[in-house]
Amino acid sequence: MTAETDNEPLEVDDELIDEYEDVHMHVFGTPLRVLDHGQGTHVWDVDGNEYLDFLAGIAVNSIGYAHPKWVEAVARQAGQAAHVSNYFATRPQIELARKLIELAGAPEGSHVYFGNSGAEANEAALKLAKLYGRTLNSSKPYRIIALEHGFHGRTMGALSATWKPVIREPFEPLVPNFEFVPANNIEAMRATFEDEGKGPVAAVIMELIQGEAGVLPLNVDFVQGVRELCTEHHAKLIIDEVQTGIGRTGTWFAFQREDLGGVTPDMVTFAKGVAGGFPMGGMIAFGEELSALFSPGTHGSTFAGNPLGAAAGLATIGVIEDEGLLKNTQERGEQLRNGIRECGNPLFEQVRGRGLLNAIVLTHPCAHAAMEWALAHGLIVNAVAPNALRLAPPLVVTEQDIDQAVRILAQIPSNLSDD
Ligand SMILES: Cc1ncc(COP(=O)(O)O)c(C=O)c1O
Repeated sequence: MTAETDNEPLEVDDELIDEYEDVHMHVFGTPLRVLDHGQGTHVWDVDGNEYLDFLAGIAVNSIGYAHPKWVEAVARQAGQAAHVSNYFATRPQIELARKLIELAGAPEGSHVYFGNSGAEANEAALKLAKLYGRTLNSSKPYRIIALEHGFHGRTMGALSATWKPVIREPFEPLVPNFEFVPANNIEAMRATFEDEGKGPVAAVIMELIQGEAGVLPLNVDFVQGVRELCTEHHAKLIIDEVQTGIGRTGTWFAFQREDLGGVTPDMVTFAKGVAGGFPMGGMIAFGEELSALFSPGTHGSTFAGNPLGAAAGLATIGVIEDEGLLKNTQERGEQLRNGIRECGNPLFEQVRGRGLLNAIVLTHPCAHAAMEWALAHGLIVNAVAPNALRLAPPLVVTEQDIDQAVRILAQIPSNLSDD
C-alpha cells in the first residue's frame, strides 16, 4: 500500500493501541498509529501501511529513518562502548563538542555541556544563567525573561520559562523570578529590563521561531533589539535552538541567518535533530568567562555525553555536510511553501516558516481533523495548534516527496469539523 490512497484497515494496530493504553501514563493521548519501521522519508505501521513522514519524530529524524551511515556508526559504537561514566571521556564526545562549537561559530574558549533532551539542554542554560545572576551582586533578586508563547520543555526549570498557562500553571509555584514578555514587542522588553523596582535581568531565553506555538517567527528587528538590550544591561541571551538547530531552518543554527546581521547568543541550546533520532541535547556557552561558571559538581547527568549519542551526532552532522542538506533544506522549504501557496486548497490561509520548519495556517480550527485526513491518505503532518498544521520533514526530503505531500495536502477537504 502506498501513500496517496486510503490505507488498509488497522487490525494489529488497534490491538496494540489498546495494550499501549493499558500500561502507559496518559500524557500523550491515544497514539495515532503503531509504527514498525522506516526508510528515508517513509515509515510503515504494523499493518503494513506506508506513510510519507512530514513530521520526522517532531523535527528529530533529520537524516530520515535508517540512514546507512547512521546505522553503521551507531552499530560500530555499540560494539565498542555504548556508555562510559563521566569519570572518563570518549573520542566521539570530544569530536562532537568541537564540531558543534565550530558549526555555531562560537569563539575560542567556548564549551559544550551535553544532556539527553531539549528540556535538559535548557535546564543547563538556565542553571548557568542563575550562576551568572549571582555574579551581578544585586540586593534584589535577579530575573530571567522569557517570551509569551515560548516553549522550553517540561522539567521544572524549563517549565518556568514555558509560557502556555495550561501546561505551566498546574505545577506552580515553579522557579521564582521568571517574567514573560510579549514576543516581537521591543518596547515591552525594554520596559521589563528597565523596571527600577526590580533586580537586574540575568538572562533572556527565547526561540527564534516559536515552534510549539505554531511555528511563529520572531521579527528580525525584535531579535536584534533584544540582543542590544542584553548587551547594554549585561544580561545573557539564551537562544533555544532545540527545534530550529542543526540545519532545520537552512543554516546550522537559526541565529546564523543572514538578515539577522550577526546576532550572537551567549548560550545556544540544541537537541531534537542533533543525533538523528538518538536522545541527545546540549548547550554551548559562548566564551571562557561564562563557561567557567560551571565547575565540578555544579551540574551533570549520568548519560551526559554518552558515546553512542555522540557517535550518532557525528554521523548525523557528517551526512548533513556530505549530502549538502543545508542547501536541500533551503530549496525544498521554498518548494514546499510555494507548492502550498499555489495548490488552491480553500482551507489554507497562509504558510509560514523557514527551511523545513513550516506551518500551514487554516481558515478554521480543524487541524486535528485535517491531520487525521492526511494520515489516512498516507501523509504524516502535525496539528500544532487548532488552526495550524506543522510540516517538518527530514532534511533528506526530495523534490518528489514535496510534490507528493503537496498533492495530498491540496485534497484535504475544506469542510472538516472543527477541533
Ligand atoms: C524550542 C524547544 N525547546 C525545548 C523543547 C523540549 O525538548 P524535549 O521535549 O526534548 O525535552 C522543545 C520540544 O518541543 C522545543 O521545541
